[in-house]
Amino acid sequence: MEKQVKLEDIVSLAKRRGFIYQGSDVYGGLSGTWDYGPLGVQLKRNIMNLWWKMFVDERDDMYGVDAAILMNQKVWQASGHVDTFTDPLVECSNCNARHRADKLEDPNKCPTCGKEGTFGEAKQFNMMFKTNVGPVDDESSISYLRPETAQGIFTNYKNVVDSFYPDLPFGIAQQGKAFRNEISPRDFVFRSREFEQMEIEYFVAPDKWEEAFEHWVEKCKEWFAVLGLPENSVHELEVPDKDRAHYSKRTIDFDFDYPIGREELMGLAYRTDFDLMNIQNASGKSMEYRVKGSNEQFVPHVIEPSFGVERALMAVLVSAYREDEQNGEKRIYLALPEHLAPVKYAVSPLLKNKPELVEKAREVYAKLAKENPGRVMWDDNGNIGKRYRRQDEIGTPYCVVIDFQTLEDDTVTVRERDTTGQQRISSKDIMK
Ligand code: GAP
Repeated sequence: MEKQVKLEDIVSLAKRRGFIYQGSDVYGGLSGTWDYGPLGVQLKRNIMNLWWKMFVDERDDMYGVDAAILMNQKVWQASGHVDTFTDPLVECSNCNARHRADKLEDPNKCPTCGKEGTFGEAKQFNMMFKTNVGPVDDESSISYLRPETAQGIFTNYKNVVDSFYPDLPFGIAQQGKAFRNEISPRDFVFRSREFEQMEIEYFVAPDKWEEAFEHWVEKCKEWFAVLGLPENSVHELEVPDKDRAHYSKRTIDFDFDYPIGREELMGLAYRTDFDLMNIQNASGKSMEYRVKGSNEQFVPHVIEPSFGVERALMAVLVSAYREDEQNGEKRIYLALPEHLAPVKYAVSPLLKNKPELVEKAREVYAKLAKENPGRVMWDDNGNIGKRYRRQDEIGTPYCVVIDFQTLEDDTVTVRERDTTGQQRISSKDIMK
């Protein structure tokens, strides 16, 4: 019984099972913010660690950085964000609700009060969160919570070149929080005010940008495959001139079939030398790269694959969500790829009131936990059927059960999530 997954199914499972809660929930929430529970944080880390392994650790042309979130205001003036990082805002003269003009279903009708013709001219609303650094509250102390991690990379380009003098092409990668004061945060974690990005700025000779762009199209597709996203759920969209960000000469959006419709999962942009030239002009410091063994010198161009963690996580959950029937009962399970599942093994004694079973199960649990840190769960709550249901819902691929036969021959039952099939194997074999 495969069904079309709804957003409510994902939101409800995420809350019920400890993946994602509304931010500041106990105080009625704070719009556009989300808190990760024990399973959500593990899933998110699995995604982020996999990305780092694939794009930083396993490549010899990539350098990782971790820049400060607060940056000198000159960064955001030079990058164009102070002037142009805006969304069009309209206000309803009847109920005073504010909406993002380009996302309205009917541009003449207020979705809050339903009145028509109550919007005036759209104003440009800057999405950066403004703050002051230090005890003096004046123009010079203004700073912003970064709206993209990219600028922390661009501002360190010269540092990395001076320290390592890498050959072109090379990339600098960063993961971390980004903040946008979205006018209408919505659709669970899809459009949040605080979220996480994984970005790469890939520096190339100006005449080599096209081949680098194609290289990154392929790498993005490899990434979607390791996330377990079905190939036919991801779509490449060539973004037309009028819709591209101010810095881009070519952009491909990779859209995913979310329950809310086909929406942007991540973007790949050719940012030209826009950012490095801006830094060079504003700081007076040369951003030129000298090709080794020659006098050739230029400001590199940049290809930027920009991955959003929350949108990847949401696509992973949507792709993994399943409902079927087992023994006449509805079952919900997450068919997560083994390398992403927050819990890889759940270990149970068949009966929790039999000390000899508990002791043996604890031994198996300890060994598995040592080899899979953070990804083994002790589960002796309720009967075995209930435990399987619970583990299915959180996407645990293997439930390991210790019973009386284990005490005799050291074999355990391993129950597989997707097929619900069970196998008896030597306890030593699960450690492999
Ligand atoms: N440095 C380029 C950049 O930031 P972007 O298209 O504005 O480009 C990149 O953002 C990615 O960040 C998006 O494709 C999306 O995955 C994620 N993202 C952007 N805004 C977001 C939001 N409000 N909530 C969650 N994720 C967001």
